[in-house]
Amino acid sequence: MDVKSFFVEYFGYVPQIMAKSPGRINLIGEHTDYNLGFVLPAAIDKAAYVAVARREDQLIRLFAKDLGEEYQVDLNLLPTIPGHWSAYILGVVDQMRKMGKLNSGFDLVLTCDVPTGAGMSSSAAVECATAFALNALFDLQLERLDLVRMAQKAENEFVGVKCGIMDMFASVMGKDAQVIQLDCRDLSYQFFPLNLGGYKIVLFDTGVKHSLAGGEYNLRRQQCEQGVAVLKERFPEVNSLRDANLPMLDEQFRSAVSSTVYNRCLYVIEENIRLEQGCALLLQNNIKGFGDKMYGSHKGLSELYEVSCKELDFLVDLSKQEDAIAGARMMGGGFGGCTINLIESSAIESIHEKFSKQYQSAMGRELAMYVMVPSEGSQLIKFD
Ligand code: GLA
Repeated sequence: MDVKSFFVEYFGYVPQIMAKSPGRINLIGEHTDYNLGFVLPAAIDKAAYVAVARREDQLIRLFAKDLGEEYQVDLNLLPTIPGHWSAYILGVVDQMRKMGKLNSGFDLVLTCDVPTGAGMSSSAAVECATAFALNALFDLQLERLDLVRMAQKAENEFVGVKCGIMDMFASVMGKDAQVIQLDCRDLSYQFFPLNLGGYKIVLFDTGVKHSLAGGEYNLRRQQCEQGVAVLKERFPEVNSLRDANLPMLDEQFRSAVSSTVYNRCLYVIEENIRLEQGCALLLQNNIKGFGDKMYGSHKGLSELYEVSCKELDFLVDLSKQEDAIAGARMMGGGFGGCTINLIESSAIESIHEKFSKQYQSAMGRELAMYVMVPSEGSQLIKFD
């Protein structure tokens, strides 16, 4: 059944608008977005789907099909319940209301096949699908980039995660078979076709659910800001870690900050360099060379940025032993979720089988695998 049938079944009438917005992968460039650096994400073929219809009154009725839960609220009294699924929808409603754009309630059904807590940005998918659908329902005439910013603000202000712009940007702007090289400082971007030769993008899911709202994410952001404040005293042109370079992290800087802040800054500057070098390698079809950058990224995330966990490290170590794997690293915010791997197509099944056994005996968990294809971003769904 699709989201339209779910809506008809639940509310008993036909929705006016339906939209979908995908999750994302990120090849390299992690924790760089809120430091105004570079990222290399792509939208995926798993998405959040919403169907909506206007109401005459001020009531908002939400139904999360996958959970079988309904949530009702008055448009003028939006509550935040930390960790509740409704926050990702109501955060967007809150933004639209603040713009004075919403004048009535609505009914909404949500269904989503992006795994949650796996680092594929199910939250951005829900926010962007909601923004896309309500934009059409209330004829708000907002551009795609406005919707990207709105969804990010919803997450920052309503959900309380001070995330960067990568997830929403990839979800809304993604294109079939392309990755996006995005500069988070000025939002300039370019698509490039992903020619991976005989390799495919494969995610291994640790099964450890991460929770960005857990505070560690926001803490990383603060530590980077502390580093920027110290750098700025000597280098006034530095407004973010994007403006900093390795020579600036000299002895004077090292003695002015904690070793933690030093390591966070070092990681971010190095990751931006890795991404630029990695893109050049991809353009030369040097997949092994790009894979080495992925391993470098993981090492930095694990040792300097400290956002990995033992399950992620274990899987990346396994990948390093396989000739058929060009590179691997943890993906997304960290503390769980998936590793992203570039694996030769013919070896994918046998490697999954082998890793599953090793992972099961070391960690006592199943190892889910997803083979990913870069896909189209947010879209309205046509009625049949
Ligand atoms: C999460 C955030 C993103 C980004 C990544 C790490 O997915 O939502 O903005 O910071 O973590 O790269």
